[in-house]
Amino acid sequence: MDSIIITIDGASSTGKSSLAKAIAKHYDFKHIDSGAMYRALTFYAQDHNLLDDHKFDVDTLIDHLPTIDIDFTNADEITLNGKIIEDQVRSMEVSNKVSLVAKEPLFRQFMVAKQRQLGEIGNVVMDGRDIGSVVFPNATIKFFLEASMEVRVNRRYAELIEKGEQVSVKEVQANIAKRDHIDSNRDDSPLIIPENAIVLSNDKEGLTGLFNIATAEIDKHLR
Ligand code: DC
Repeated sequence: MDSIIITIDGASSTGKSSLAKAIAKHYDFKHIDSGAMYRALTFYAQDHNLLDDHKFDVDTLIDHLPTIDIDFTNADEITLNGKIIEDQVRSMEVSNKVSLVAKEPLFRQFMVAKQRQLGEIGNVVMDGRDIGSVVFPNATIKFFLEASMEVRVNRRYAELIEKGEQVSVKEVQANIAKRDHIDSNRDDSPLIIPENAIVLSNDKEGLTGLFNIATAEIDKHLR
């Protein structure tokens, strides 16, 4: 089997990571959640008092970049300088600020370089916003996942409640709407449907339905 790269792009909470995980497990591929990488950098900035509700010290964060190692364990958990930070990166505090970090071109260059390096091993499923459009424009197969606001809010709300966060549905919806606006309108690699991407909808299908459609497409490339 040739070494392949599968990309799944889409807005937040459309179910990209769940689909990517299921596909990666099925083919024994590596799953890379690129959103978790932007979240890790956001967590780092907050942890070093460079980013809060009143300030964002972009210049100092840029200075720190050479000392920041964002990676994944063999079990695909996000690490920051060797420490697993899966729970920390999913907090509302990080969600509220991550789009500000992700819109800075220098931070995007840093991530894109790392994502390409991670993809070099091949047999990778990577999900995000610009994976099929910018990071791997020549990917073997590209998907773009859509879902209604209602489905997305319910997904994220359930995820946060399960993690023990105190949030309201209203707060989650406001966060998703704000991030949609920033992610879709930023100058550097805004969220778009990549060329040649297969568009899937998570409104009716559910994970099993999406998985069946996606694997049928992937199997055509593996034959
Ligand atoms: O998928 P997510 O919600 O975990 O992503 C977190 C943020 O990171 C999101 O607001 C947009 C940004 N992001 C990005 O700009 N490019 C990517 N490839 C992945 C995520």
